[in-house]
Amino acid sequence: MSSIEVIGGEQLKGELKIQGSKNAALPVIAATILNKGISVLKNCPKILDVFHMVQILEDLGCAVSWDDNTLIVDSRQASVTHVSEESVRKMRSSILYLGAVLGRFHEVTIAYPGGCSIGARPINYHLNALKKLNVTQEFLDEDEKIIHCHTDRIRGNDIFLEFPSVGATQNIILTAVYAEGTTRIYNAAREPEVVELCNYLIEAGARICGKGTAFIEIEGVKRLHDVEYSLPSDRIVAGTYMAAVVTAGGNVVFNDVPVGHMESTIRILRKTGCLIDIDGSRVRVVARRRPNPIELIRTQPYPGFPTDMQSQLMSVLCKADGVSAIHEQIFEYRFHNVNELRKMGARIELDNESNKATIYGVKSLHGALVKAHDLRGGAGLVIAGLAAEGTTVVTEADSIERGYEDICRDFGVLGAKLRYCSDNEQYMMKRHAIDAVQ
Ligand code: EPZ
Repeated sequence: MSSIEVIGGEQLKGELKIQGSKNAALPVIAATILNKGISVLKNCPKILDVFHMVQILEDLGCAVSWDDNTLIVDSRQASVTHVSEESVRKMRSSILYLGAVLGRFHEVTIAYPGGCSIGARPINYHLNALKKLNVTQEFLDEDEKIIHCHTDRIRGNDIFLEFPSVGATQNIILTAVYAEGTTRIYNAAREPEVVELCNYLIEAGARICGKGTAFIEIEGVKRLHDVEYSLPSDRIVAGTYMAAVVTAGGNVVFNDVPVGHMESTIRILRKTGCLIDIDGSRVRVVARRRPNPIELIRTQPYPGFPTDMQSQLMSVLCKADGVSAIHEQIFEYRFHNVNELRKMGARIELDNESNKATIYGVKSLHGALVKAHDLRGGAGLVIAGLAAEGTTVVTEADSIERGYEDICRDFGVLGAKLRYCSDNEQYMMKRHAIDAVQ
């Protein structure tokens, strides 16, 4: 496991380009299986989750190559319909191959994704929807870890989602592209990453309308054709870096910001009192003093405030000039950072019943040895370290590399002092931190 050492106290300044979107890339990479041909995906981020999805493409028989940040997929020879348990255990987003492989081959064997640190993350909405598309499902093992789905033909149908699940919406779309007839999704997810999946498929010849709304209609087609597609920049990476300026202070210009996907994030960040100046996809963030508190923020499905920005915003509000509250409404356990931030001097009360955190802003945080429990939590701890006095070590920082190409490189460009540490350095820091406490 790797760690990141952050030496806090530096204001951020300079200019930085935002990487391609992880959560747009993953479903589009899965969708390349549907298109029995060549897909060229531009602006694809080089992150661990993408590398895992690419490995599965190769396991399924696709030929894949990179040209800088362009991913070239040739799925003409794909023939395997089994997605390994190891792949799904490594990364739950591989469940998106459920719809893609089923859509192309009318069968798929895939492991049931387990939960993760932020929640149980079941796939009941996915499976209930596939049943309505004439897909038979059975477990292949007694402890119900491996599921086999098959059908003689996928039949379009009306599907009502009880919650606008991003992954379930994407898997239904992927399954329905070649269906006989029309599939209508009611209460569909409206996230930009659903829109990007639809855009890629429409470019390849699929017939989809209603993308970005709660009602999506997919009319089955017979085939797709080769396509070249540019992925958008990552709205969560952009929000993370903008939040870092707010809490550490500074004056930074970000380029290639997907402003159109970030209305709620920008609105909330502006409430902290920073200046956010937008010129097309170029965004300047200026923060000169302690952030304002925010009375209550609720995480919501898009276009509400994204749950993936919750940890980062909590780090900002730890140093706010007053009391704030965050209500996490999407995942069951997405407050792992609370105990870590408390080690840095944050004052946070947690009501597990209501999944609400109350943050009593303090003037300063101090460095500590903290642990990343998940991807966005880890990013939140790095930005807390940037704003803290002294040195913070974020352990188990590998999870951050799942979604950020190089968080140390990026903040280093902006004048911050942080670096990756090897395991034995991490051990020595742990010893030092323990000695310091004893
Ligand atoms: C996507 O996950 C994102 N991942 C998540 O980002 C993001 O937090 C989430 O959407 C919400 O916006 C990718 O896009 C790869 P959901 P997904 O299905 O599709 C429950 C990150 O950090 N649910 O909308 O798994 C579920 O447990 C990641 O980049 C069911 O109960 O999210 C959760 O409480 C973290 N049954 C809620 O719905 C189901 O069948 C939202 O889940 C499916 C979901």
